[in-house]
Amino acid sequence: MFKKTKIFKINKKNFEEVIKASAMIIKRGGTVAFPTETVYGLGADFSNKEAITKIFNAKNRPLDNPLIVHIESLKSLSLIAMEIPEDALKIANIFWPGPLTIILKKNNKTIDLSASKLKSIAIRMPKNKIALALIKEAGTPIAAPSANLSGRPSPTEAKHVFFDLDGKIDAIIDGGSVDIGIESTVIDFTSEIPTILRPGTIGAKELSQYIKKINVENSITSKNIKIKSPGMKYTHYSPNTEMILIEGESDKVINKINFLLLEYYRKNISVGVLGSKKYKMAKAIFIIGKTPKDIAYNLFRGMRFLDEKKLDLIIVENINFKNSTGIAINNRLKKASNRHIKV
Ligand code: TXA
Ligand code: MG
Repeated sequence: MFKKTKIFKINKKNFEEVIKASAMIIKRGGTVAFPTETVYGLGADFSNKEAITKIFNAKNRPLDNPLIVHIESLKSLSLIAMEIPEDALKIANIFWPGPLTIILKKNNKTIDLSASKLKSIAIRMPKNKIALALIKEAGTPIAAPSANLSGRPSPTEAKHVFFDLDGKIDAIIDGGSVDIGIESTVIDFTSEIPTILRPGTIGAKELSQYIKKINVENSITSKNIKIKSPGMKYTHYSPNTEMILIEGESDKVINKINFLLLEYYRKNISVGVLGSKKYKMAKAIFIIGKTPKDIAYNLFRGMRFLDEKKLDLIIVENINFKNSTGIAINNRLKKASNRHIKV
């Protein structure tokens, strides 16, 4: 079903007007994409089943993959969740508003945000004044997944949302580029030991300063993984172009990429590189940055940029940073690549 997607370019002058108009759409059961500090989200009233269905349809999202509920005040917690563990409340107080999603036991009144019939619900308070103002003005928590077509890289700019969802959603609030560039950490407090299901910029290292025991679910390397976060079983974040990740020490990775570029050049295969430096033989390059912060900021942007070049192949340099942001970037790169080559 095609509809006209409104674009609200928000600035200081029209801020309140845009928030009011967008909140009205949410209140009436519509869908609005908005910036958060992590990535753009596609929002709808969390208590309106029809509105929630619109999100799943627009994104073509598998029905069993639940949405995160976004709140603007801790007061909303008791509306959505029950039996909130002390540790969960503690880290919510410390890290919210911020890029951390907490999974709690669902309140009986809260409707299912997926077809999985889960007893739990994911909640987050974003650190972005547009997002917070929108939730407040709408007068309801807002359910919002990342505002991309299911499986595509998460959107870090309004134009990415437009590219994927134009004609499928009611409006987009264009608030410029997001700050962080990768999605929030997801931590599950319904398991005996709090468990990180999706790594983000707030990692086990930061969280363990406040809670004694934390498990980290590594969806990529652990064997016999029991899928706790339904979204983890799907391919993710991928450009349409085939992508190969080269893993290893930096020097070896660069050598391997140069070798592959020559080989593909001879075979007349056009290749783009997402990496830290210029490669002479590459048809297109996106320099991803040097620090974990910069790389997170550029990661999905770079994938989308290269995807638009209509190449035969994208080669990605792996990232060797071991801090929480580095771990989160590696997780996204591994999930987004069709093949991994270790050197
Ligand atoms: O930074 C973010 O988290 C962004 C912004 C918009 O807030 N949102 C986001 O939402 O990344 P989404 O839907 O793309 O990813 C949510 C992840 C999915 O992997 C989903 O399976 C998981 O959280 N999730 C949601 N509810 C869950 C639950 N009750 N139990 C386990 N996993 C859950
Ligand atoms: Mg997503």
